[in-house]
Amino acid sequence: MAVDIGKYAEGYLQEWDQRATVRARQRYRLTADAVSKELYPALLMPILKHPEIVALGEEARRRIAVQTACAAQEAIAGIEADVVAELCSRLAREGAGVPLPGAARQVALTIGTDELYHAYVAREFVADIERLSGIPAVAADDARPPLYAAVAFIHAAAPDGLQRSAETMALCIAEHFVTEELFGVSKDTVSDSPFHFILREHLVDEGRHQVFFRHLMRHLWEASGEDARTALGQVLPGFLDAFLNPGFQRHLDLRILEGIGFTGDDSTRIATEAVTLAYGPPSDCAKGMRPPARHPLRLLKEAGILDHQPTRERLIEGGWLVDQVKSPIHRGID
Ligand SMILES: [Fe+2]
Ligand SMILES: [Fe+2]
Repeated sequence: MAVDIGKYAEGYLQEWDQRATVRARQRYRLTADAVSKELYPALLMPILKHPEIVALGEEARRRIAVQTACAAQEAIAGIEADVVAELCSRLAREGAGVPLPGAARQVALTIGTDELYHAYVAREFVADIERLSGIPAVAADDARPPLYAAVAFIHAAAPDGLQRSAETMALCIAEHFVTEELFGVSKDTVSDSPFHFILREHLVDEGRHQVFFRHLMRHLWEASGEDARTALGQVLPGFLDAFLNPGFQRHLDLRILEGIGFTGDDSTRIATEAVTLAYGPPSDCAKGMRPPARHPLRLLKEAGILDHQPTRERLIEGGWLVDQVKSPIHRGID
């Protein structure tokens, strides 16, 4: 059974003042001493280990690391302000397509507030990095993190009467995914580094958001009728295709490499080789077996969505769910 989302939301609101970083904490600020420490985990920058990049020396590698750190924080700021806060605002104003208590709508406003604050902190961190390192961030272009395209897909694909439910489902999946990914990254950070401090601060809020959105996902699904469930299940594979597309990270890598003087062709080759060196050759296994699929599938399972046969079939057709009999590895999720 789902928890009572109204009661849960009332408790959430009572704790927000004490727990939210925007309400209760002095935020971390980068210092001249700390700017030489880890600004982004080396494990997430496979390019740095490529022999042609190592051969360029420390200064070029430092530039890549700084610009990758800035691009990652800019991406966070964009997702938080443009997508998540916007969807939270709509959740508060227009609901979730199913009955939603006023307290839960108020929680959506606190989360939107938290997210705009995270965007502020991320952009401040970028400005501090640029000022203290003397290295400029890569200039903004039209490319956006994949959540933008994933939400645009939902707008285009969901039937008119289900826009709110479909957007809310997208928001729940996105918030769950981002939090799990950040927790995963936090294990790979150097404990007294600027990246570690700024990530831990962010996670104080995201851990709380994640629990709320887990309850909301289940509430939404249980309150939806059969037709709505079938329609939501139909847009899920396309949403996951857009949301888990790795193209944005690659685009950033190419721009950073071109910025230090590599041609477009060399940048493409180095980026491809670096990823292969770090993670092995590209996998041809089903999408649902790849690591990024783990967290969304876990959420869908916990919300009872994977028990819905028409949705299961759409996810299997889309490659996001793997037949249990053929795939023992998948048993942990399915
Ligand atoms: Fe956030
Ligand atoms: Fe969040």
